[in-house]
Amino acid sequence: MSSQNNNAELKLDGKSYSLPVIEGTEGERAFDISALRAQTGHITMDDGYGNTGSCLSKITFIDGETGILRYRGIPIEELAEKSTFVEVAHLLIMGRLPIRAELRRFSVVLTRYEMLHEDMKFHFEGFPATAHPMAMLSSMINAASCFYPELLEPESDDFEIEAARLLSQVRTIAAFSYRKSRGLPIIYPKPSYKYTANFLHMMFSEPYQDYELNPEVVRALDLIFLLHADHEQNCSTATVRMVASSKANLFASSAAGVCALWGPLHGGANQAVLEMLNEIHKAGDDGSRFVAAAKDKKSGKRLMGFGHRIYRNYDPRAKIIKKACDDLLAKLKRSDPLLDIAKHLEQVALSDPYFVERKLYPNVDFYSGIIMRAIGIPLEMFTVIFAIGRMPGWIANYREVNEDPNSRIYRPRQIYMGATQNPYVPIDERS
Ligand code: ACO
Repeated sequence: MSSQNNNAELKLDGKSYSLPVIEGTEGERAFDISALRAQTGHITMDDGYGNTGSCLSKITFIDGETGILRYRGIPIEELAEKSTFVEVAHLLIMGRLPIRAELRRFSVVLTRYEMLHEDMKFHFEGFPATAHPMAMLSSMINAASCFYPELLEPESDDFEIEAARLLSQVRTIAAFSYRKSRGLPIIYPKPSYKYTANFLHMMFSEPYQDYELNPEVVRALDLIFLLHADHEQNCSTATVRMVASSKANLFASSAAGVCALWGPLHGGANQAVLEMLNEIHKAGDDGSRFVAAAKDKKSGKRLMGFGHRIYRNYDPRAKIIKKACDDLLAKLKRSDPLLDIAKHLEQVALSDPYFVERKLYPNVDFYSGIIMRAIGIPLEMFTVIFAIGRMPGWIANYREVNEDPNSRIYRPRQIYMGATQNPYVPIDERS
């Protein structure tokens, strides 16, 4: 996947070292520093890893300067228009779009494993009613591995089955978490329903009445899952790879991904965006106070749903979601004042020199919450929806780590800045 076509020269303390340059298939270039410490005694320092390539990967390509996102080479815009979440999950995990027979097999396995082990229900009982569904999701994904001991083997015989089991069960766990957090009876999955419809059924049906599935709503949620399915080495995916590198099982590695995703600077941003829009709506102003606070470093505030470590252009997913948001509200014949506020805020920010100079554009989280709100998904479930969507990416990355014969445990170094050697002072002599 890469060619080493030239070397870079490093001059240090009067000596010269040759660093191989690795080039990816899309022309990205990196200095290979794997022998740097052994040769020079130095390490590199890259706070926040903004310049560090942590792996070679064949899954997802992003060009943040021009706003390109491709899964296994296929542009996100085409997948959004023509594909489904399950098909995209197959693409990411198995490496190619499925032929009909493969898609059928994958769907059959998803259905076969949609039920949780019945004893897992008792674990849900242990959470207080106020528990955040993300806490339940990560705990229960981890707990699931206890019920399927074969998963404790880092490499099972049939990865497709293992992957489909997790993909299927995460949706059941997510819906159960929501029902539990609302004190509602659990709704079991229906084998006749497809992936996303089944999730909506488990979320919103009642024991005495099935939720009425609206194809527009099912498609909109499926699109949200699909758009979140992978995004190369973001915080949660890098976490999954980190845990996987220790040879922890797929469920444990993915549970760690859920925890990393929860933070408001990552997946938690979709909840934070809605909270921000609600606040602006309640205050009845035009959002300029929020924009002013976001520009003032001392305020500690940021314009949520804006900015991205990689994109210095419009996030291609945000473009698709913005349009899907308009389409869904039109089809449901609804309007949402929060959508108007979001659009206004975007306009204000994109014409403000602070955001223009820093190339801060709306990211995937800016409009996704308005779609979820229109569907009736409660605020505390927004990041859970992101986690369900991201699962194929985590699984694909887990697989890549596990199938790489050269993979070593991830172990960054540090530059120690603490006290130099100190004697131990007995407790009676301490001041
Ligand atoms: N509001 C105000 N200022 C911002 C914002 C924002 N949303 N984002 C970045 N900036 C500022 C930074 O303070 C920095 O200013 P400076 O140069 O004067 O110090 C400058 O823009 C550049 O910041 P970056 O280095 O690009 O930011 P970083 O890569 O560290 O962080 C992040 C990226 C976390 C996404 C950031 O943009 C942010 O906090 N956004 C809001 C939260 C959010 O929407 N997160 C979701 C990200 S997408 C995802 O995870 C799915």
